[in-house]
Amino acid sequence: MGAVDEEVQQVSESQIAVHWREEEYYQPPATFIGQANAVDPAIFERFSEEHFPECFKEYADLLTWDEYWHTTLDTSKAPFWKWFVGGRLNASYNCVDRHLATDRNKAALIWVPEPEDAETEAITYQELYRRVNEFAALLRDFGGVETGDRVTFHLPMVPELPVSMLACARLGVIHSQVFGGFSGAACGGRIADSQSKILVTMDGYYRNGELVDHKVKADEAVERAREEGVEVEKVLVWRRHAGEYASQSPMVEGRDFFVDEIMPDYRDQLVEPVSMPAEAPLFIMYSSGTTGRPKGCQHSTGGYLAYVAGTSKYYQDIHPEDTYWCAADIGWITGHSYIVYGPLALGTTSVMYEGVPTYPDAGRVWRIAERLGVTIFHTAPTTIRMLRKLGPDEPAKYDYRFKHMTTVGEPIEPDVWRWYHDVVGKGEAVIVDTWWQTENGGFLGSTLPALHPMKPGSCGPAVLGIYPVINDEDGNVVEAGSGRAGNICIRNPWPGIFQTIWGDPDRFVETYYEKYNRDKNSTDWRDWPYFANDGAVQAADGYFRILGRVDDVINVAGHRLGTKELESAAITVEEIAEAAAVPVIDEIRGRAVEMYVSLKPGYEESPDVVNKVTKAIETEIGKIARPKSVWIVADMPKTRSGKIMRRVIAGISNFTDVGDVSTLANPEIVDDIRHHVQSEKVARGEQPRELSAEEMKEIQAFGQAE
Ligand code: WTA
Repeated sequence: MGAVDEEVQQVSESQIAVHWREEEYYQPPATFIGQANAVDPAIFERFSEEHFPECFKEYADLLTWDEYWHTTLDTSKAPFWKWFVGGRLNASYNCVDRHLATDRNKAALIWVPEPEDAETEAITYQELYRRVNEFAALLRDFGGVETGDRVTFHLPMVPELPVSMLACARLGVIHSQVFGGFSGAACGGRIADSQSKILVTMDGYYRNGELVDHKVKADEAVERAREEGVEVEKVLVWRRHAGEYASQSPMVEGRDFFVDEIMPDYRDQLVEPVSMPAEAPLFIMYSSGTTGRPKGCQHSTGGYLAYVAGTSKYYQDIHPEDTYWCAADIGWITGHSYIVYGPLALGTTSVMYEGVPTYPDAGRVWRIAERLGVTIFHTAPTTIRMLRKLGPDEPAKYDYRFKHMTTVGEPIEPDVWRWYHDVVGKGEAVIVDTWWQTENGGFLGSTLPALHPMKPGSCGPAVLGIYPVINDEDGNVVEAGSGRAGNICIRNPWPGIFQTIWGDPDRFVETYYEKYNRDKNSTDWRDWPYFANDGAVQAADGYFRILGRVDDVINVAGHRLGTKELESAAITVEEIAEAAAVPVIDEIRGRAVEMYVSLKPGYEESPDVVNKVTKAIETEIGKIARPKSVWIVADMPKTRSGKIMRRVIAGISNFTDVGDVSTLANPEIVDDIRHHVQSEKVARGEQPRELSAEEMKEIQAFGQAE
């Protein structure tokens, strides 16, 4: 083979040229610029590489420190970076106590219950202070937790969630909130991994007009944790309506306790905030990866809080007088950073909504915005798509005015972006498209809203103090404007970066740093670029367009689902021999999951098996992961070494070219599967629209990471 052929052979996804129309710029409105926190371009100079890492003092100085740090960045144990070493602070003090002197009667949180006739609850900083202290006292004296212990929460979108988080932070206890929509089993796995002795949950919550039973999941969680060797000592159950019980599941004597029944013992108690080293972990947030168990991303106290405060100020443009509404769930990193810690550190009013954005109709979100006078609105493309589909003209009917809007979690189609801008923002609001990850603590890519024009579909340049590079597979730099995609990496550490994977430092290094590390003994940060596991392309103007995961994670409505987790769940079904999960393009959720399964010998294909697989995935992971279809196949397309070729079945599911199958061990199976799946899809009316070039590439590259 000649050199040229060889080159063609070795072209990987990261080197494939990407072509699309360059979108037009939108300028930030003058009214926004006039009031913005960051309006002087000198800020770029302050955060330029020559001022790194000291530039981040500007963020850390937004906090109140018990002791000032002596070393801004310690790289001696690379890539386990230490920020603000020597500094001490308490996150709960920073988010609550320090605002009391000037703002005790201002709303810290405004909570909107899902039932529309229920009263909105405004919780002042003083009230929050009381509740946080009382629950901290209860956790410490009744729960028996100590500084450094882990406590798992499985809570819905209720004020008790930020109260619980801040109570832990007050004690220096590490919280681990599991998204309320996840199953009991998924929660149990995370309890075991973090070795939590206490689970904090709620009896029920409102979702789509129903009071759903949530406590039942706690029993499953405790059971699963026990199977994995961790015994939960106490389950603390908040009640959605104090004094009434919304669950069918019995309370276990000596293990389960209603918080509202014990709370009177702790009434008016105050707990001194524990002064924590900047480097002490504040929380763990689990996130799905390519293989194996979800990764517990461990975030620090000082670096994390400084980073979310700084980015909330400059990128969310939060002023103390704003009414800020991030409609994410606190069960995800977005909610931790940009509902709770960032906004409260800045002393603003943060809105929380319990329920579904389209309940009872597509005008709900805009009614909330109007009623509360929301000025900053923050949501995800999947919600924007859904609101556009169900109520394209609704926003115009309501009298709210946003100055600023955010999109986060997955790439947004330029067309959807324009609806967000023109209809939701009424042409008056600036938009930031913020690219980042659970691992990152805060934003990595975004326009600085008063200083950069917006470009639909691009997150913009890197944020202040972040110096990215796009590398090809071999570590060569892919130039901006070349039209080529590659792996986006961040060349430098930043204060919000997670500290490690809880209990698995080797996997931390391996997943994020090994690929582009230049010398594993080096203590120079320049040798340790952070590999984000996202594909991206950089335009000539420096703006990044994020293409999605290069590993096999399926991003459903902004939630990362690992293929391995889905497949392991399917395999728990007795009849299933093998399983493969693939993404299909979905108009609302971005991507949806399809499962392919083959049966063990002696079992018959039946609708029952399909239901069992669906149920298993709901039980192991949660309803959000429910597959759109489960296809039973005689065998999976496999390589000669026996690996399932996911790209081939992904191609079938999406009606795209399956590529070269001649090297498969069983190429003949491909046509059988294609015929079976595609004719059924046509019969159901599930043929996708024509895919864009990028979508096609994503599907064709799926499964290549292994
Ligand atoms: C994707 C959510 C395009 C990306 C904060 C990333 C995005 C993964 C964007 C992280 C965006 C997030 N544009 N893609 N603005 N934001 N992503 O950990 O693939 O839940 O790696 O964090 O979502 O998802 P995670």
